[in-house]
Amino acid sequence: ATNTLLLLPGDGIGPEIMAEVKEIIALLNGRGLTDFATDEGLVGGSAYDAHGAAISEADMAKALSADAVLFGAVGGPKWDGVPYDVRPEAGLLRLRKDLGLFANLRPAICYPALADASSLKREVVEGLDILIVRELTGGVYFGEPKEIVTLENGQKRAVDTQLYTTSEIERIARVAFDLARARGRKVASAEKRNVMKSGVLWNQVVTKIGKEEYADVALEHVLADNCAMQLVRWPKQYDVIVCDNLFGDILSDVAAMLTGSLGMLPSASLGAPDAATGKRKALYEPVHGSAPDIAGKGIANPIAMIASFAMALRYSFGLIDLSDKLDAAIAAVLGKGLRTRDIGKDGDTLVSTKEMGAAIREE
Ligand code: NAI
Ligand code: MG
Repeated sequence: ATNTLLLLPGDGIGPEIMAEVKEIIALLNGRGLTDFATDEGLVGGSAYDAHGAAISEADMAKALSADAVLFGAVGGPKWDGVPYDVRPEAGLLRLRKDLGLFANLRPAICYPALADASSLKREVVEGLDILIVRELTGGVYFGEPKEIVTLENGQKRAVDTQLYTTSEIERIARVAFDLARARGRKVASAEKRNVMKSGVLWNQVVTKIGKEEYADVALEHVLADNCAMQLVRWPKQYDVIVCDNLFGDILSDVAAMLTGSLGMLPSASLGAPDAATGKRKALYEPVHGSAPDIAGKGIANPIAMIASFAMALRYSFGLIDLSDKLDAAIAAVLGKGLRTRDIGKDGDTLVSTKEMGAAIREE
């Protein structure tokens, strides 16, 4: 059976880095290693220019029927003034919502060749390979009431509501435990049960799922603030970290900076398994944005986009060996000293987006 991929390159450097993924897909299909049928759509500013919306209904329908969506990046100064509900980011938010993407996976991998680019000492980060699993559709970013009200005395009161239900915690816990089973068999669950009721429930539900369904996976509970500290002190103590939307936002950014450049960081967002097929809706994207400052120059680092495609091979198509090989090819070209400008130091010979892509395909 053919696997379907929807490519949404987006704006700025999005199309430049997606072009390198297209070349890899062509290579894999050509060798008979994969059988991908790709389709392409518009998202963000480019969709606004063409349709007056951040994503058209036709492209949304394609996203809903595809096995996986590969997303580049959206936004840029050209669209700063467009109405709020059709701003470029609205396209990504719509995709997340309609595909039900509740689990955000952010690996933090430190390639030995880049260990000196980290803000921490080499021995602390070299060989680091952890995965942060962030709940993406609940918690304080979405809970109601969410408002600013003016009080009788003229003061204002701002309210955000941190809200989680048992089933929301269960499903993100299962994603984290499943991933841990395929990795280091270790989950750290981060919350603040000492001051938050949602932390108490989070702790209880994760404990129960761990005990009843994943007795083979080690579970540790850590207070989220301590987790931030531990990530900077000795990150290699962790394998999979699972946390809510707010703590995940912060902890994944902390983990990101352990590894060096924004141009290196992939991500995956997964939905619930389909009742009939067991397949999850999924979207794969680099963590970085559209980098308008370097767009059109052919110098963007394509590695975050290519590593996001490697995550798609792994999580949407079960092509673990191929995914491992693609990750190994990235490590190999870095080991040979190839650098785009964002990861280069003085004295390095810099390569273009296309040269980096070609070198990875060659590997
Ligand atoms: P950004 O991630 O686009 O860029 C930050 C800095 O990192 C820039 O100096 C850029 O040149 C560099 N950079 C980023 N990715 C790179 C790559 N692959 N290779 C080499 N250098 C890279 O973030 P910024 O500047 O805050 O936002 C620019 C636009 O992107 C805005 O319109 C913002 O809203 C949008 N954005 C979109 C996101 C998405 O599509 N998911 C995420 C973050 C920002
Ligand atoms: Mg963030």
